[in-house]
Amino acid sequence: MITMRLRSVREAHIQKGMSVLLRVDFNVPMKGTAITDDFRIQGSLETVRFLLKKGARIVIISHLGRPTSRDPNLSLRPVFFRFKKLLHSSNRVIFVKNPFDLAGICAIQQLKAGEIAMVENIRFWKEEERNNLAFARKLSCFGRIVVNDAFGDSHREHASIAGIAKFLPAYAGFLLVREVRFLERAIKNPKRPVASIIGGAKISTKYELIRTFLSSSDQVLVGGALANSLLVLEGISVGKSVFEKVEPKKLGPKILTSAKLHIPVDGVVSKKFDLGKNVKVSIRAVGSIGDDEYILDIGPETEKLFINILKKAKTIIWNGPVGYAEVKQFSHGTLALARAIGRVKAFRIIGGGDTIAILKSYNLLSSFDHVSTGGGAMLEFLAGDRMPGIEVVMKK
Ligand code: 3PG
Repeated sequence: MITMRLRSVREAHIQKGMSVLLRVDFNVPMKGTAITDDFRIQGSLETVRFLLKKGARIVIISHLGRPTSRDPNLSLRPVFFRFKKLLHSSNRVIFVKNPFDLAGICAIQQLKAGEIAMVENIRFWKEEERNNLAFARKLSCFGRIVVNDAFGDSHREHASIAGIAKFLPAYAGFLLVREVRFLERAIKNPKRPVASIIGGAKISTKYELIRTFLSSSDQVLVGGALANSLLVLEGISVGKSVFEKVEPKKLGPKILTSAKLHIPVDGVVSKKFDLGKNVKVSIRAVGSIGDDEYILDIGPETEKLFINILKKAKTIIWNGPVGYAEVKQFSHGTLALARAIGRVKAFRIIGGGDTIAILKSYNLLSSFDHVSTGGGAMLEFLAGDRMPGIEVVMKK
């Protein structure tokens, strides 16, 4: 088995007082300004503690959400407070609102060995997503080396992920190394059959991925709004359900004819969906969804079909709930699949913030061999797509 050879942070010569730029993915799920899951913050603590032990001066960079302006709701400040609490260190940890103004530059310059500065949401600077090299160069002034621990963002060619490595030696953090090691097991000579479950919303971004999974997996199960969009593409009505309308011509070759692809045959539907309130539901076969109905979960026949496939699998990859699982009434399908996976003897990996948050609240994560911090990044890695954030830390 050929494995990716990464330059681990363990190999970096970090002397006491050396400044290290640490890129993490603290893009955590939030409700308003409250963090609903801190799994990604916890995931990078090992790298932070390693750097602290070496006596580094650490400058942490992360993005949060997809801001189009300096949206105060997307400030990293709440994340900073959670990070400080989780790190539980007596060392000084500061927040830097603007690392490019005088106050910010001074605050970073005055960091002492073992102190940490977390910079405001790096996507507040539009140059980040454009991978602007002048911006990457400015960022590079804050460290002698850069450590990438942001696996979840490593599919993006952004300045603090990719461009920065033009100016600083780049190393992989422990979280990144762990992700690559586990995910590689699912694609390099995996134990077969391989079953992949793909949920989520946007067909425009997931269509090619499903196609790739159809060639690498033995069975691909699609649920959620993604399945609705596939049905609409075939001219099957999904009533008022969430789906994304796309021009079939803009997508690649048809996938619905593949014998490996399994989409729901029935659904739990309702005429209303009222968050927090129990609503009247019915079970409908796909093809007979009323114009005034929403599909909110997979139905019992689909659940049986999916579970039968999962029972035979030796490798299971899961990303995205198969229903509107944030609402208890419509979480049945997603939880039933999770419980079935728990009973299967297979190598099991799961990723995607929504799926993880739901399964975590029901204590259903422990049966997975690997819980990935990546959503899109995990899928793209498994599909063999380019990962600029990993390329920069690979040994030549
Ligand atoms: C994620 O949550 O998948 C990563 O943080 C990447 O975020 P993005 O899709 O906004 O680039």
